[in-house]
Amino acid sequence: MYELHDGKGRAAVIGSGASALLGAACRECAPGIRAALITDGGVPGEHIEKAAEELEAAGFAVFTFVIPRGEENKNLASLEAIWGFLYDKGFTRTDAVVGLGGGMVGDTAGFAAAVYKRGLPFVSVPTTIISQTDSAYGGKTGVDFREGKNLIGAFSRPAAIICDTDFLATLPEEERVSGLGEVIKYGAIAEPSILENVARDLPSDETVFACAKIKQSFVLADPFDMGERRVLNFGHTFGHAFEEASGFRLPHGRAVALGMLAAIRLGERLGVTESGVYEAVESACERAGLGARWEALTADALPLLPLDKKSDGASLDFVLLERLGRPVRRRLPFELIARLMG
Ligand SMILES: NC(=O)c1ccc[n+]([C@@H]2O[C@H](COP(=O)([O-])OP(=O)(O)OC[C@H]3O[C@@H](n4cnc5c(N)ncnc54)[C@H](O)[C@@H]3O)[C@@H](O)[C@H]2O)c1
Repeated sequence: MYELHDGKGRAAVIGSGASALLGAACRECAPGIRAALITDGGVPGEHIEKAAEELEAAGFAVFTFVIPRGEENKNLASLEAIWGFLYDKGFTRTDAVVGLGGGMVGDTAGFAAAVYKRGLPFVSVPTTIISQTDSAYGGKTGVDFREGKNLIGAFSRPAAIICDTDFLATLPEEERVSGLGEVIKYGAIAEPSILENVARDLPSDETVFACAKIKQSFVLADPFDMGERRVLNFGHTFGHAFEEASGFRLPHGRAVALGMLAAIRLGERLGVTESGVYEAVESACERAGLGARWEALTADALPLLPLDKKSDGASLDFVLLERLGRPVRRRLPFELIARLMG
């Protein structure tokens, strides 16, 4: 079992069997008698039962609320439903809210808890690769609004994060493969040894911990996402454009993997990225089962780049790699990107 501390009394416990510590973690931050277990309709019942048992053993009366699964339910209606549930069950600021699920549950339940009665103690229990390696540690909570992703939200860090890697065993193949894209990103931007260990399998506890540690270090250095933390967007600029160019048939994690490869190629053509980087990331993508053919998508993706939220109309803030573990941010004119990648 691994522990991650942030120096402010909040901790993440990461590894097989970590959920045995859920009751104690909630007790530490919530002296009350109730725990709301917020999850979504795709999280297997066995995980919900396990979490409920741990909370009951710590003396909580457990009230379970299930949000319908899927990004389209990361919205105001789900928030209102959660707040109504907390109200009806008589939750006070001494009671705990637990978010059990992937990034969708973490973002929604985390925000619901952050603002209900000005803040109830929130404990995050991530159950997907993306949430266990990335989203649970960022302190970003919120929901989508109108056409915009994550438009309504707040920076609010959980009181504790209980990351039980046993929960990953039930992930469907596509979620696992997509999640490995995020793991490869951490290997590329910060810790090349992560890349060597990527296989068409679940990440080891050591890898989940390594990613979490990297994410936390960026978050602590730039808690409100004003600069340094933006290198975590590596692969996402081309990735979003590929996702859109494919009519959203390309899953997010796959799109980001292809976006990383395109960004490395762009870096090579700019003379920024040293040789060998592309091959190392491509090899990890292939071992993970992430198809590496992105070239055919660029013609449709390039015209979408000016629509990116980081665009100022003429140029775009891009994350490139000088070498593995050494990201750099560059503002690049669209005309240059189109010339090098078209
Ligand atoms: N807050 C942040 O910093 C941050 C960072 C990255 C992504 N995100 C957000 O995270 C979301 C994506 O997260 P995600 O990829 O975890 O998707 P998700 O939360 O939608 O989960 C994907 C699917 O897997 C199911 N699932 C969850 N755990 C499971 C398990 N153990 N076994 C079987 N099925 C399981 C879910 O029910 C869901 O259907 C997006 O909304 C994104 O905006 C947030």
